[in-house]
Amino acid sequence: MTEVVIVEDAEVAGRLAADMIEHLVRRNPCAVLGLATGSTPLTTYRSLAQRDLDFSRVRAFALDEYVGLEPGHPQSYRAVIDREVVATLGLDPAMVRVPGDDGVLDAALDGPLEAALEAAADRYERAIETAGGIDLQILGIGANGHIGFNEPGSSLASPTRVKALTRQTREDNARFFASVDEVPRHCITQGLGTILRARHLVLLAFGDRKADAVAAAIEGAVSSSTPGSVVQLHPRVTAIVDEAAASRL
Ligand code: GLP
Repeated sequence: MTEVVIVEDAEVAGRLAADMIEHLVRRNPCAVLGLATGSTPLTTYRSLAQRDLDFSRVRAFALDEYVGLEPGHPQSYRAVIDREVVATLGLDPAMVRVPGDDGVLDAALDGPLEAALEAAADRYERAIETAGGIDLQILGIGANGHIGFNEPGSSLASPTRVKALTRQTREDNARFFASVDEVPRHCITQGLGTILRARHLVLLAFGDRKADAVAAAIEGAVSSSTPGSVVQLHPRVTAIVDEAAASRL
């Protein structure tokens, strides 16, 4: 069931999502979090950073990662998560995983390497299972309805795997790079099936640019052409959106 909470702005949404994470971590100091990147979850992470909470035993798994950036690239999702989450909340970096963080991401995508990336994706899927699954997954949504990097056309049951990014997503994310040509063409992403196995999904979206994607995800037909619509198949979803993102509901 999807509970939709409409709030005035991203700050209030971040506080609400942070309340849910705080509640979880106080109840279970060894909770497993699913982390999203992009600009949407930043108010949540910043609100959490202002609270007196012990994250030292919390495990975390990122949703996705680019393929082909050099190690330590400031826009790699590993670097973003280290900067915005690990350092500010005091997580143990060894307890935080990002797809492909076992050393296969910094090379180009061809032939045998593709097999190595797929193997890394399988290991990531198993690592989530071994950790007991994700308790609470934070999700943003792309303007084209993608969640994680599951672009339109992703199978609803998909596991963690290598995907090509669409031109629109690369253009949307070009603001973090010098130009769109520097945005990688591939990624490893948790699949829609992986996301559905998390026990609680917290979907955040702000601004008019997300209004169509939010309406399609929450009220449209469940379809692989709208990856975000898988949330309708999940028993426990909280969508926290501002009025602009809710305007087409
Ligand atoms: C990115 C990420 C997604 C994110 C989405 C929205 O491409 N891979 O996980 O939810 O696009 O990004 P933003 O929050 O910056 O709008």
